[in-house]
Amino acid sequence: MARLEGKVALLTGAASGMGAAGARRFAEEGARVAVTDIRLDAAQAVVDEIRAAGGEANAYQHDVTSKQAWDTTVAAVAADFGKLNILVNNAGLPGHPETWDEAKIDDFEKLISLNVYAQFYGIQAVLPQFDAAGGGTIVNMSSIAGIIVWPDLHPAYGASKGANRILSKNAAVDLAKRNIRVNSVHPGIIHTPQSDYLVSNPDVMARLLPAIPMGRVGRPEEVANLVLFLAGDESSYITGQEFNIDGGYTTI
Ligand SMILES: NC(=O)c1ccc[n+]([C@@H]2O[C@H](COP(=O)([O-])OP(=O)(O)OC[C@H]3O[C@@H](n4cnc5c(N)ncnc54)[C@H](O)[C@@H]3O)[C@@H](O)[C@H]2O)c1
Repeated sequence: MARLEGKVALLTGAASGMGAAGARRFAEEGARVAVTDIRLDAAQAVVDEIRAAGGEANAYQHDVTSKQAWDTTVAAVAADFGKLNILVNNAGLPGHPETWDEAKIDDFEKLISLNVYAQFYGIQAVLPQFDAAGGGTIVNMSSIAGIIVWPDLHPAYGASKGANRILSKNAAVDLAKRNIRVNSVHPGIIHTPQSDYLVSNPDVMARLLPAIPMGRVGRPEEVANLVLFLAGDESSYITGQEFNIDGGYTTI
């Protein structure tokens, strides 16, 4: 039996990078997948790929910073697929290089809104569907910047990703009795459009690669496999945990 047979999963920011890799992987494992993103055309392209490979998916235009958009999207997914079992709060803004002297409060608000408020809205929005289904799983995408300091980025990036980490644990403890499990995933450098400005810069890579014990950056598909494990029943006794996926970067 496929690993997500019978499940319905909603992934945010799933038109690109790790979200798209997760959507494809979930569909391969039998889930019916709601591919949501602020960019509908790009989400539809991922859905077309999934369907061409024999999977089931629908695309939804969904700005995760809007509480109203959450309510509308979850209602549409439940109407289309009949239920919802899995939420992957993946959409997030990258940190950009910034000094403490120049950092703008507007950028702080944007990062907190997308990286923290959106995950809070998402958890709240799926609760009625999860209760109706007898439980569910949530995977919140954080970063190693929520565990250790990533220097010289806008300070709100680490603050927002650190907030994801404790938000996940808080939800895990409070929702455990409702058979809802919540875990956070903390990628190191994974080659996606969001990190391309780092990965395609040879000077940056010459500095960063020696700090990664495995000596390379990660692939979105590698993160998708971890998210798949946490979203499915194989991780049935795991909740409130944080998982670094970084080639060993945070170990030394
Ligand atoms: N790539 C990395 O190295 C890395 C490392 C650590 C953490 N992360 C985190 O992983 C997650 C996915 O990143 P990625 O690298 O795959 O990025 P990506 O840029 O490839 O994809 C992000 C997607 O989010 C969508 N998005 C942006 N704003 C949105 C909004 N308001 N509502 C809905 N969707 C929106 C974008 O359209 C895009 O499709 C993010 O939370 C990111 O912060 C990335």
